[in-house]
Amino acid sequence: MSFSCFGAFNSEKTKSREQEEEIGTNNVKLFSHNSLRSATSHFHPSNKIGGGGFGVVYRGILRDGSRVAIKLLSSESKQGTKEFLTEINMISTARHSNLVQLIGCCVEDRHRILLYEYLENNSLASVLLRSKSKGVHLDWPKRVAICMGTASGLAYLHEEAKPQIVHRDIKASNILLDENFHPKIGDFGLAKLFPDNVTHISTRVAGTVGYLAPEYALLGQLTKKADVYSFGVLLLEIISGKSSSMAAFGEDLLVLVEWAWQLKEQERLLDLVDPELTEYPARDMLRFIKVGLFCTQAASKQRPTMKQVQDMLSKEVKLNEKLLTEPGVYRQYNSQRSGGGKSSSMVIKGKQHKNHSASSNQLDSFQSMTNILPR
Ligand SMILES: Nc1ncnc2c1ncn2[C@@H]1O[C@H](COP(=O)(O)OP(=O)(O)O)[C@@H](O)[C@H]1O
Ligand SMILES: [Mg+2]
Repeated sequence: MSFSCFGAFNSEKTKSREQEEEIGTNNVKLFSHNSLRSATSHFHPSNKIGGGGFGVVYRGILRDGSRVAIKLLSSESKQGTKEFLTEINMISTARHSNLVQLIGCCVEDRHRILLYEYLENNSLASVLLRSKSKGVHLDWPKRVAICMGTASGLAYLHEEAKPQIVHRDIKASNILLDENFHPKIGDFGLAKLFPDNVTHISTRVAGTVGYLAPEYALLGQLTKKADVYSFGVLLLEIISGKSSSMAAFGEDLLVLVEWAWQLKEQERLLDLVDPELTEYPARDMLRFIKVGLFCTQAASKQRPTMKQVQDMLSKEVKLNEKLLTEPGVYRQYNSQRSGGGKSSSMVIKGKQHKNHSASSNQLDSFQSMTNILPR
């Protein structure tokens, strides 16, 4: 069985019945490389809107006038056509108002390209963490809506999507915002399109280091709770208006979650709040910060599920702080920074298959190691 690639608009009449059936099953439109070239003015640099670990992203306009984000997957994702389309089919069945909708793909020759709905306000990273000078002001109700919407999208991926999806890369640049600043999670399911040695943090750790649950970064233990950890970091970023991976906090130059914990110990939690945020209900704000701390606890079992997070954020519940334990932090060694952290992850990968108690011990010993690392 072959999956040929053709223009979504100019080849309609030439489609065979067999192809139509396949497209029906696959639930996504197939685009020719030619049609994507015209949508992006031959992938003109002025249409490039970003590039992350999975590939380069272009803005494009289809023949029907709709705007799309066109993602050229990097060369590592060279699955066979059939395997690729199987994964795409899986991704396309996940539909929720807080997920970026996959529109179609191109699998011509060696090209592996995905088309997504275009989100007007770019990513949360650019709005919240980089573009303050551009005058985008996220007030408290907008930030609440972004937190709640993201929690809702992630809870859907974890509980309702079939099959359930662990995102693996929750971070501010994967939260896209529409014209009303309604959040949509992007890049879900993508990790599966890459071989494991590529999707694992060994090659991608630099961009996402601030979000990585320690047990995932160190031991490769990937569960929904690793996403919960990243969501907790995101929550603290939304509240503080600062990037976890790009800044150091407090006098001791801590990472964001450590700083939040220090402020909690000092009963100064509101010091975490973005100075640009002047009006907010203190009780809700404190609850949100504490939810961030619950999510980033070192022991993954202690972290809530995303459904519980939704409840904790939306209801005026009193959180039992006695149950709250210290956050875990993954930090790269200085000597590994220049080498991209590869040696670290190789050591960890070797330990992945050991039993749970051995892994826990490794994690414990790492956590005590982090305490003595120079900051
Ligand atoms: N659907 C989309 N609509 C608008 N902009 C997008 C969309 N998808 C991605 N982008 C932009 O492209 C950038 C790069 O995306 P990506 O390749 O996923 O890398 P990363 O998520 O690591 O930043 C994002 O930060 C965002 O600014
Ligand atoms: Mg992304």
